[in-house]
Amino acid sequence: MKILMISPELAPLAKTGGLGDMVASLSKALAADGHDVRIFIPRYGNIPTGDDWSVHPDPVAVHLTPQHTEFCRVWTAPFGQARVHLLEYNNFFGSGEIYGQRTDHAYRFAFQSLAALDFCLQTDWVPDIVHAHDWTAGLAPVILNTTRRSTALGRAASIFTVHNLQHQGLVTADVLRYLYLPPWLLTADNLECYGGVNMLKGALYHATKITTVSPTYAQEIQTPAYGFGLDPVLRFRAADLVGILNGIDSTEWNPATDSLAPVRFTAKDLSGKAVCKAALQRETGLEVDAATPLFGVVARLYEQKGLDLLAAILPELLGRARMQVVLLGAGEKYLEGRFQWLAKCFPGQLSVRIGYDNALAHRIEAGADFFIMPSRFEPCGLNQLYSMSYGTLPIVRATGGLADSVQPWTSRPAKGTGLFFGDATESALLDAMHRALRLYFDYPADFAQLRQNAMTQDFSWNLSAASYARIYDSALRTRRG
Ligand code: ADP
Ligand code: GLC
Repeated sequence: MKILMISPELAPLAKTGGLGDMVASLSKALAADGHDVRIFIPRYGNIPTGDDWSVHPDPVAVHLTPQHTEFCRVWTAPFGQARVHLLEYNNFFGSGEIYGQRTDHAYRFAFQSLAALDFCLQTDWVPDIVHAHDWTAGLAPVILNTTRRSTALGRAASIFTVHNLQHQGLVTADVLRYLYLPPWLLTADNLECYGGVNMLKGALYHATKITTVSPTYAQEIQTPAYGFGLDPVLRFRAADLVGILNGIDSTEWNPATDSLAPVRFTAKDLSGKAVCKAALQRETGLEVDAATPLFGVVARLYEQKGLDLLAAILPELLGRARMQVVLLGAGEKYLEGRFQWLAKCFPGQLSVRIGYDNALAHRIEAGADFFIMPSRFEPCGLNQLYSMSYGTLPIVRATGGLADSVQPWTSRPAKGTGLFFGDATESALLDAMHRALRLYFDYPADFAQLRQNAMTQDFSWNLSAASYARIYDSALRTRRG
């Protein structure tokens, strides 16, 4: 199949979170299975284009309206066995930020979707599948059903993947005029929302099939508690909605080959993990002590991730228990400030790095004993998968992909791969942290067994990529049938 991915992120070229990882690793897996996969992302700022890159010889014409065509450049390079196209259009993407505080998001990302589709038409590469990711690409399925329906692209089926329902692209209705989309789209059972346009809602109505990144999240988003107002639309489309758990790219996240960790290790020989722990304690200014349990956090510091709950219980935990925490993250200023202040109160026990640092993220996964993810909602979550493959036991709230990928600890015989808690409350998290401390200090044989269980699971993309291929097949039958 010919598959076009339209995404705002692609690791390592442009990444703020797991979306970039997912699009990269799914594309590589599908291409390795023999599909012709092309990924279309904006060229933010000056994403470097070295020897591997070629620029399309003609300017690419984006036909916004019959009277208005804009021209841009498209760069291409191999990406595993797939290909990546970078859309260079500096009016929108030259300044470099992926999302930022801009007010013209609707136009930037609407332009990206249309440019991707018009580039296919101009180069006579007509995809069978247009796979759009999250709200920024939400208008692609709408364009396929309207202004490009009678072109060669009209036979392409569209797949829309919800990575995060919280961000929907609520914008003014001008975006319809900008793309010359028909005004009838502005109704309640279409794109309309509070008088404006909801880009994600458009995709939910117009995509041939909808996927999300775990089976549990696919159920959760059909309920008011997790639906962010769109649960009625998701229930309406339930027959076309599937949850497929993300895999991980084991060329990037693998303790046996990780060049970003100080030393490598495997489930059979964990001696390297102890070296990674000591190196992480040293690097982050924690007391170097093999016997003290070390808890890691790497996350965007937003409400979704529930780390305000952790900040609230840390004084009690650190004040009483023999334990250490290392946190890497950036996001809400109040939360960054709170963690920095706590780090000053508990030197040697709590180390906080504000910022984005991929190499340190690898060293935390490699060196920590536990990894904390108290998410209020988590469509899939990749860090718990990385953690388990590095023998770092995740402590998770039982929601979304966390519930689907971590198995809770039970004793006699020792089973599980991590620790669970249910409510998004401080007391429930505190209870789970106490259980983790008990596991570490009082049940060392169980702790060692859980590590083995976690490290020997298969989180590769093999199964999930095959599930996507099946959805593509069935979407094509629906579209062409
Ligand atoms: P989300 O996509 O909601 O942020 P995921 O768990 O799916 O959550 O993916 C997060 C990804 O982003 C992981 O690869 C994680 O290592 C990375 N990440 C998040 N924050 C940082 C940071 N401050 N520094 C480095 N990597 C980060
Ligand atoms: C989103 C979700 C996260 C998921 C990632 C990749 O950012 O918040 O849970 O793992 O997308 O699908």
